[in-house]
Amino acid sequence: MGSGILLLLSSMAAALEAMRSGSSPLLVKDVEYCLVPIANVEALATHFENIHEAADAYYESERYRRYGVVSRTEEGWSLVRAGRFVQSSAYNKYLGDKIRAYAPLRAQDVASPEFQALLDRFAASVAHATPEVHVHQIRVCCDASSTNLVPEGVHQDGYDSVAIACIDRHAVQGAVTSLRKARDADPHFVFELPPGNMIVFDDRRLWHDVSPMLAAPGATKGYRDIYALLAHDSEG
Ligand SMILES: [Fe+2]
Repeated sequence: MGSGILLLLSSMAAALEAMRSGSSPLLVKDVEYCLVPIANVEALATHFENIHEAADAYYESERYRRYGVVSRTEEGWSLVRAGRFVQSSAYNKYLGDKIRAYAPLRAQDVASPEFQALLDRFAASVAHATPEVHVHQIRVCCDASSTNLVPEGVHQDGYDSVAIACIDRHAVQGAVTSLRKARDADPHFVFELPPGNMIVFDDRRLWHDVSPMLAAPGATKGYRDIYALLAHDSEG
């Protein structure tokens, strides 16, 4: 935990210095992971106002998800595919090789300046041009008993670069993100990602996990809202 915090602080300091000096942002291929602030997280939170219409039927716990693939054109990021999603069982022992049908991302959310800025910031943090980004908009709910956010446990997603952008944490405790260099290695990065922050990491070199969460003391129910962004390098 201690070395993870030190690494995080040095990563944050380098990112801040890069922003201050106006130089190129950190690239996850060079640093393996970086913590990136998100602009206008309050506006991004409004994207989840009707998320209850998009139930995720593939998990036992209460979850909601919209999914789509976006691509950058001269006019900005736009939706190019929606709906069906499949992940290899090589990467997901829990739901791998199963075709999952999700509600599409909402057109007005994709077109919004806050979403465009989020995707621009993700693309600026990865090493190569990212012709397409897979976008998962996810709410996981919990009550007083523990909810497992990642049934497959420590894993890789099978992309080159992955980002977890925390949009909101409402009356929850737990849900601590960790990164490690191998499935069975101790985590070298452990962080409770606050709303308004995105962790971007090299999915080829790191393994990730999120600890269980439960409702905060005194609350009967809570939820955590994230955008997960996944991309292959343009050469891939
Ligand atoms: Fe993942």
